[in-house]
Amino acid sequence: TRPPSVSLLGKEYPTDKTTNITSAIADKVGRNLYMNPSHPLGILHALVSSHFRDFNSMVGLPPVVTPAQNFDDLSFPPDHPGRAVTDSYYLNDSAMLRTHTSAHEVETFARGERRWLLSADVYRRDEIDASHYPVFHQMEGARVFASGAEGRAELEADNARLAGELARARIAIEDVPHVSPTNPAQAAHDPVLAELVAQNLKLSLNSLMLSLFGDHAGGEAGEPLRVRWIEAFFPFTTPSYEVEVFFRGKWLEILGCGVVQQQTLDRANVPNSISWAFGLGLERIAMILFSIPDIRLFWSQDPRFLSQFTAGQISTFKPYSKYPACYKDVSFWLSEAGLHDNDFCDLVRDTAGDLVQDVVLIDDFTHPKTKRSSKCYRINYCSMDRSLSNEEANEVHAQVIASLKDKFGVEIR
Ligand code: PHE
Repeated sequence: TRPPSVSLLGKEYPTDKTTNITSAIADKVGRNLYMNPSHPLGILHALVSSHFRDFNSMVGLPPVVTPAQNFDDLSFPPDHPGRAVTDSYYLNDSAMLRTHTSAHEVETFARGERRWLLSADVYRRDEIDASHYPVFHQMEGARVFASGAEGRAELEADNARLAGELARARIAIEDVPHVSPTNPAQAAHDPVLAELVAQNLKLSLNSLMLSLFGDHAGGEAGEPLRVRWIEAFFPFTTPSYEVEVFFRGKWLEILGCGVVQQQTLDRANVPNSISWAFGLGLERIAMILFSIPDIRLFWSQDPRFLSQFTAGQISTFKPYSKYPACYKDVSFWLSEAGLHDNDFCDLVRDTAGDLVQDVVLIDDFTHPKTKRSSKCYRINYCSMDRSLSNEEANEVHAQVIASLKDKFGVEIR
């Protein structure tokens, strides 16, 4: 038995037999993680936007689209597996959560945008592991050129400029032919123009890869960034490609792209034009750049995660326990013999074992008259594999205090 309707973002959707959105998924809608400038996804979003600074960057489009927007407008065949209720989330048979930002291509082209970026949360039913999550974020980018002599001149000039920039950069590119029998140009296109557009796409994205990974390739100093182009297939582009980057010893898939099917531009009523488009997944790239080991961390509200990132900066994430931190302070007067930080730490480790995650000296004070010294340490009790109750942390902390008095003769303040 299903409820008669489901509500999302303040709208009611009557349910039917395709309805399969769950409350865990509905709860994620509207978080807009990529809009937070000091969240890793927001930092990456800003980097890509500033690379394409003369593109109109759109954010905040609600995730509910029609299957027509998500599939039919992009020439997906009627039997494409992505349409299945096992692969996508449906509110009902005429409303679904977009599975990719390409779902907004037609409406964006139709508005007359000719250089645009669009960032959004996308939803797919998928396997569960460290790099898959049913909600993730994509950035779509597209550039439209006039299809006549004017477009050709613009492409030739822009390609020459980009090629010049890349020739001076430390980048090693493994390319594939712009078009091939298995990755053909479109019948509707002038073959010379189609090649120029494909070349512009490749140059633009090689340049983006350099912006994102150039300083963080992690290889030997002086080694070039390695970028690899592969033939791909998407129903809404041809020729199509995937881009991979060699990072810390592995080839990583970064994005999909291609020359936009003319049918898409026709549906958007954009005449005499030719376009390229790409779609990249923000989580994948952010996991690499910030060394974030698990995709679930992006949704964390824990200050131990969020406080590690600063707007405009790529930093290396330092993992912490998945379980809640429990901070306890101990403040005491030292005996004549004093107490070294390392002695304190060994005592804590001896008593609390692996329940202690870190110890910080937060106060170190010597009384000006009596010359007595006091110290205050903050201990973070946190298990690696379970949630520690406050009672249990109190018990361990009491043992630490007892042995501190016993072994070092301190006086608790
Ligand atoms: N939408 C595609 C995906 O999610 C990526 C893509 C975008 C491919 C634009 C080509 C052009 O896999």
